[in-house]
Amino acid sequence: MRILSGIKPTGNLTLGNYIGALKHFKDFQDSGEVYIFIADLHALTLPIDPEFLRDNTRDVASFYLASGLDPKKTTIFLQSSVSEHAELNAILQNYLYMGELSRMTQFKDKSAKLKQSAIGLGLFAYPVLMASDIVLYDADVVPVGEDQIQHVELTRDLVKRFNARYGEVLVEPKYQMNKVGARIMSLTDPSVKMSKSDPKGDIFLKDDLATIRKKIMSAKTDSGSEVKFDKENKPGISNLLTIYASIKGMSIEEAEKQFTAARYGEFKKAVADAVIEEIGPFQERYKQIRESGEYLAVLREGAQKAKQIAHQTLKRVQNAVGLLNIDEL
Ligand code: AMP
Ligand code: TRP
Repeated sequence: MRILSGIKPTGNLTLGNYIGALKHFKDFQDSGEVYIFIADLHALTLPIDPEFLRDNTRDVASFYLASGLDPKKTTIFLQSSVSEHAELNAILQNYLYMGELSRMTQFKDKSAKLKQSAIGLGLFAYPVLMASDIVLYDADVVPVGEDQIQHVELTRDLVKRFNARYGEVLVEPKYQMNKVGARIMSLTDPSVKMSKSDPKGDIFLKDDLATIRKKIMSAKTDSGSEVKFDKENKPGISNLLTIYASIKGMSIEEAEKQFTAARYGEFKKAVADAVIEEIGPFQERYKQIRESGEYLAVLREGAQKAKQIAHQTLKRVQNAVGLLNIDEL
């Protein structure tokens, strides 16, 4: 089984990224061949400062290693250092249609915040590059948070369409989402997703521990006093329960049971303790890796390994669509 996923180096990673994606990547290491990459080409789909992008790329690489990904088991690489991603993208863009791309929620959300005249083609075509990332490694399973499911579904549509025309060339992937924690919400407004661009409602993986505690203690809660999972009426408490349960590796019901007699204050303190207990040691590993620069050798070796697979797939696709391979004539 091949497993593939990636994270964009577009800013400070949040607890949402950690719980929805990063934390789980390592769990796949013993069930198959794992490919985890930094989606730096995707980071260009919205304006980003070059120094900031480089810095974030180093961060994501260090976070990957700090999360327990083992370069001996997992191929860790940078998207832009494997040129096959862009080459496959150039072919596959002909098999997704404008109508379906314009229906993507992420495109609608992100483009709504831009002036009509400033919406880049890359933002619109984002799912084509993402599909290329996935099929390039014949990935069977793609672990992602909830917001990325639509893109994996579109990849499946593309694969079906492509294979119907050219035979069994591409592998059809499935997404895998966690039962708990696939959508962590903002602490200040639990009706919106925790995302890299909201400093108050977010817990950033680089926040110091005192700040993390403070943010959790002042998270928006709901009326009433019971710690109960009820997304409709208690979105704030439900979000904190989700954070607690996923950090502790338990079900929501189990977490709820622990707090049947607790007040909000006590409950929040327990959530803060749990997050700090996990993120504290993670930050220590991150700092050490980031300072030593050891992630660079990992990325170099990862790119070489990734390229071997990616090259084969690209040739297979080029051949299927009718591009003449002059090296083999
Ligand atoms: P991105 O930051 O958009 O590159 O996302 C990287 C991964 O983190 C993807 O699998 C997302 O689905 C996941 N993710 C991002 N934000 C959240 C969130 N608030 N809750 C759960 N998962 C998330
Ligand atoms: N689009 C993903 C995100 O925003 C990042 C990503 C790019 C990705 N290519 C991918 C995730 C391929 C999984 C598989 O989070």
